[in-house]
Amino acid sequence: GLPTRVRIHEVGARDGLQNEKTTVPTEVKAEFVRRLAAAGLGTIEATSFVHPKWVPQLADAEQLFPLVAELPVELPVLVPNERGLERALALGARRVAVFASATESFAKANLNRTVDEALAMFEPVVARARAEGGHVRGYLSMCFGDPWEGAVPVDQVVRVCKALMDMGCDELSLGDTIGVATPGHVRELLVSLGAQGIPAEVLGVHFHDTYGQALANTLAALRQGVTTVDASAGGLGGCPYAKSATGNLATEDLVWMLHGLGIDTGVDLGRLVATSVWMADRLGRPSPSRTVRALSHQ
Ligand code: HMG
Ligand code: MG
Repeated sequence: GLPTRVRIHEVGARDGLQNEKTTVPTEVKAEFVRRLAAAGLGTIEATSFVHPKWVPQLADAEQLFPLVAELPVELPVLVPNERGLERALALGARRVAVFASATESFAKANLNRTVDEALAMFEPVVARARAEGGHVRGYLSMCFGDPWEGAVPVDQVVRVCKALMDMGCDELSLGDTIGVATPGHVRELLVSLGAQGIPAEVLGVHFHDTYGQALANTLAALRQGVTTVDASAGGLGGCPYAKSATGNLATEDLVWMLHGLGIDTGVDLGRLVATSVWMADRLGRPSPSRTVRALSHQ
């Protein structure tokens, strides 16, 4: 069966804007987050406390976070290491995400570490965040395919998922960073994780839509009991350190499907589309989301 409600983890302001060539002004980012909240999204990933040279688009995290901190929504932020966690905690952020890789190539490209060195880097971050009463999401990238290594074996993914859960993550997000997954592969991974004691209740799915499979993959995940789905308003996104990554599953496309299935999201689709059209105007190009285009006559 399918769930009656899905929690959407909105990543447009982070995954979306980290990949824009032009740096979006801080006040525009803040207004984007406010509009997303007003459209009914309850979990809005706000920014990343990463090295500013690695992701210059999000170098204004210290300026942005206080502008949105009082909104009545969850505002998770990415933190790669203890330095990032310090910066986030200093601003009162209590929902953080570390981001691991299932493959060595991407661990090196994204974190300048091996897979296990990155896990060792996260361990004190997770422990400290939890000691401060925080909630920790563990992202895992390249769960299906990797641009340098090709198809990624399920066992390799399961191993890193277990390591992230063992160090104390509250939830995981399974990333198809380059959008190559197909529904059978999604099902296979979720079944394997369940068999290894990692149930769907702690899992979110994070599909990029490079090959147009994100919605089909989401439906496959819902059928396996997943109820947390990552998406980005207007389909913004990508990863600057992953060759051939394009935008995430568009939140509007996801909401259209979920509401059509009678699944509650709390999102006002009209307000969300208006937000993405507004953001597309700021970025100077139309949204790639089919639903945004259909509903806005762009
Ligand atoms: P490094 O060069 O190995 O850094 O980068 P280091 O640990 O050697 O430190 C070097 C210097 O950087 C030090 O300064 C640190 O203090 C400073 P120095 O002592 O030399 O003056 N530094 C920092 N400064 C500010 N904030 C920090 C920080 N950390 C160190 N947090 C590092 C290692 C992890 C920092 C770097 O690789 C990095 O920032 N990577 C982030 C890459 C990134 O953000 N990628 C995109 C997000 S992941 C993604 O999009 C995938 C996802 O969407 C899921 C999916 O689709 O699969 C989540
Ligand atoms: Mg991503």
